[in-house]
Amino acid sequence: IEETLVLVKPDGVARNLTGEILRRIEAKGYSLVDLKLLQADRELLAEHYAEHEGKPFYEPLIEFMESGPIVAMRVAGNRVIEGFRVLAGTTDPTTAAPGSIRGDFGRDWGLSVQQNLVHGSDSPESAARELALWFS
Ligand code: GTP
Ligand code: MG
Repeated sequence: IEETLVLVKPDGVARNLTGEILRRIEAKGYSLVDLKLLQADRELLAEHYAEHEGKPFYEPLIEFMESGPIVAMRVAGNRVIEGFRVLAGTTDPTTAAPGSIRGDFGRDWGLSVQQNLVHGSDSPESAARELALWFS
C-alpha cells in the first residue's frame, strides 16, 4: 500500500475547507494514517520546495506557506499518490477541472502566487522524502 503527503495550505485552512478536503479523500476510499495542524517554519518550507529554489514564484510561495497554519496528512491507499493528484486537479485553479478540489474551490486572486488549497506528493520518491520531512 502506497502513502502520500497531503497538505491543506494556509488558504484551505483559513477558508474552513479542511473537512471538505478530508471528506473527499475518505470518500475515495483512502485512509488517514496521521494528521497534524502546524505553523511551518522557513527551514521546513525551504526543504519542501527545494526543487523550486531560484524560480520567480519561490519567495512569494514560501511567504504564502508561512502565512498561517497548515494541515499535514499522511494518507494511504492503492495508487494514492496519483489518485490524490487527480482529486486535487491541475496546479492552476482557473483551469482545474470542475469536480476536483482546485476546480471546485480554487480561486485566482491575481496574487503573485497561486493559492491552490492543497499539495500532494508527485512521485513515490517525493512522497518518501516529504513524509520524512513533515512527519519525522
Ligand atoms: P503542489 O502539490 O503544491 O506541489 O503543486 P503542483 O505539484 O501542482 O505544482 P508545483 O510543484 O509545480 O508547484 C508548487 C506550488 O508552487 C504550486 O502549487 C503553486 O502554489 C506554486 N506555483 C507553481 N507554479 C507556479 C507559477 O508558475 N506561478 C506561480 N505564481 N506559482 C506557481
Ligand atoms: Mg509539486
